Amino acid sequence: MAVASSFLHQVHPLRQTSFPKCPYFPPHDSQLRPRLRFPSSTIRASSVVALEPELGTQQNQKSEVELFACPVCYEPLIRKGPPGINLPAIYRSGFMCKRCSKSYSSKDIYLDLTVTAGSREYVEVKPTGTELFRSPLVSFLYERGWRQNFNRSGFPGPDEEFKMAQEYFKSAEGGLLVDVSCGSGLFSRKFAKSGTYSGVIALDFSENMLRQCYNFIKSDSTLLTTNLALVRADVSRLPFSSGSVAAVHAGAALHCWPSPSNAVAEITRILRSGGVFVGTTFLLYNSSTPWILRSLRQRSLQNYNYLTEEEIKDLCTSCGLTNYSSKVQQSFIMFSAQKP
Ligand SMILES: C[S@@+](CC[C@H](N)C(=O)[O-])C[C@H]1O[C@@H](n2cnc3c(N)ncnc32)[C@H](O)[C@@H]1O
Repeated sequence: MAVASSFLHQVHPLRQTSFPKCPYFPPHDSQLRPRLRFPSSTIRASSVVALEPELGTQQNQKSEVELFACPVCYEPLIRKGPPGINLPAIYRSGFMCKRCSKSYSSKDIYLDLTVTAGSREYVEVKPTGTELFRSPLVSFLYERGWRQNFNRSGFPGPDEEFKMAQEYFKSAEGGLLVDVSCGSGLFSRKFAKSGTYSGVIALDFSENMLRQCYNFIKSDSTLLTTNLALVRADVSRLPFSSGSVAAVHAGAALHCWPSPSNAVAEITRILRSGGVFVGTTFLLYNSSTPWILRSLRQRSLQNYNYLTEEEIKDLCTSCGLTNYSSKVQQSFIMFSAQKP
């Protein structure tokens, strides 16, 4: 709490014009926020040892350095800055890939771990299911009416969905949870507050969703210093080492992903053995949908990748996940599968 209150009166001066309300972290100070002055040549394993004093203790190095991986080559990133998965620590840290030397840092309030982080000219336009949620308006409205509408399709609502997910995640307690496609952090905040996990990564491709998430977090001072981090990344290129994550949650997201198969393969890659994936989505149709309507729901005509129950199970299975189970209510499905 003492740490949190010391941030509350400080606003980052450089970022006031682009994003006035954030962050409440100290200014761009060379001691607090390293400007990534890593050695210019490629860093080899021995260089990690040289960086140790700045990275903290050996123990810190182990848990912090290897948490995030380079989205280009999946090599664990080296971290320069204070340890911890909380927002102030990540904001003040710089990250660098020891294989390709690409560096990553926080932009506004989130750590940008997309492949295009830092690129100046290249602009990638993704399919509608991704681009729509990058809009500031949609991001603002998301928890202010948009998400509530899902109830009409059978979604039980955030409190109940959270409870159901927690049941599936029992075996992942104490591990790292990644809330993939977290939106404005509806569930990330609940997972972080539950204290069930060693850390919670709220991850989304939308810059504006992450900013909304930050706005919700900062209105609850207990969340500022919990083990919760905001990361921008593409679900098809997750910035974590293989086998490093205990739980992956993806609420109302699978239908938005450009390639559900690439996404589920990535999720499978980052899960540790025994790790659990829990997702919810809208079904293309359910058992009560009349046959005549089923044939009209042509996926090729839609902006979203709605799948059938059978397809979701098949997708998880073909990525090597086991122990598949699901709960369906109208068009809502919550499914769970485990990495063997
Ligand atoms: C309908 S929202 C779901 C938000 C929240 N998880 C929930 O349960 O309400 C879908 C989210 O998927 C994200 N998304 C779409 N494409 C993505 C991608 N390629 N990588 C990561 N997130 C993506 C969007 O930015 C959006 O925030």
